[in-house]
Amino acid sequence: MERTLVIIKPDAFLRNLTGKILARFEEAGMRIRAARVVRLTPETAGLFYEVHKERPFYASLCAYMSSGPCFPLVLEGENAISRVREIMGATDPAEAAPGTIRADFAESKERNSVHGSDSPESAAKEIPFFFADLEVAVTAR
Ligand code: CMP
Repeated sequence: MERTLVIIKPDAFLRNLTGKILARFEEAGMRIRAARVVRLTPETAGLFYEVHKERPFYASLCAYMSSGPCFPLVLEGENAISRVREIMGATDPAEAAPGTIRADFAESKERNSVHGSDSPESAAKEIPFFFADLEVAVTAR
């Protein structure tokens, strides 16, 4: 069993797509182990995406991620990290496979509706960014 950090991003949250997106993960057998609604500041969004700080899109990404509420959650399942990334589709919705979340819901490469950890190392950093150990463990049954 593996855990991964997913964020339903402001573009999707504000269009009331949270339930539809969660259904895609649940239908694939993923279990929700923690979830909450948060409003990031540009600074906290910048910390979360620090790995991208030299990229030209970083300032715009931080502004977008703090433009409305988002919905971080921890999903657990077999090969959760790679499964979730398959279900999300490619970063750019124009390149995302049909039937993936980004192909169906994303507005652009930046406003792409969902984030998912890209490796076990990223998941190990990203889960505690939003959730204390106890918050994840309490629902883990
Ligand atoms: P995510 O999977 O959360 O990881 C980094 C985010 O940066 C990505 O989704 C997009 O929201 C955004 N992003 C990545 N590449 C670009 C790009 N070329 N232009 C604008 N935003 C991007």
